[in-house]
Amino acid sequence: MTKLTMTVNGRKMSGDAEGRTLLSDFLRQELELTGTHVGCDTSQCGACTVHVDGLAVKSCAVLAMECEGAEVTTIEGMANKDGSLSVLQQAFQDHHGLQCGFCTPGMVMSASALLKDNPRPSEAEIRHHLEGNICRCTGYHNIVKAVLAASGQPVPEGVTATE
Ligand code: FES
Repeated sequence: MTKLTMTVNGRKMSGDAEGRTLLSDFLRQELELTGTHVGCDTSQCGACTVHVDGLAVKSCAVLAMECEGAEVTTIEGMANKDGSLSVLQQAFQDHHGLQCGFCTPGMVMSASALLKDNPRPSEAEIRHHLEGNICRCTGYHNIVKAVLAASGQPVPEGVTATE
């Protein structure tokens, strides 16, 4: 076991990891940040998406060791400082962008990375960016609406066509 220290959601946090420990397991088991979900553990579903040094990554595809000293943001770090929902989180709630909620942390982390790079993405760009995040409830339309709303753009009324 090796002691790892990283800045998680703005706080220095430490925990023990083996060489093979995945970042997703380190966050959930060692740091008890269980908002990061693990759906597939094979880098396909996107439920485990977090930010490492500002980039969205699937934390089941990253070794915890690789994140020694890194800045990590998880879904627990997405709310405003006063604990209220961020604009993006509120948009997911307002536009029913979650059903069972399992994919939601990964969707929010991926969408927030998109909005950081592209503050007014088109519907096609949102769909393309979220391709790596799977929603088993198939609630994609409302997720796209939530991201459009969070970026201050008009939200289509009905269900829109995919690309
Ligand atoms: Fe990491 Fe599915 S749990 S992509």
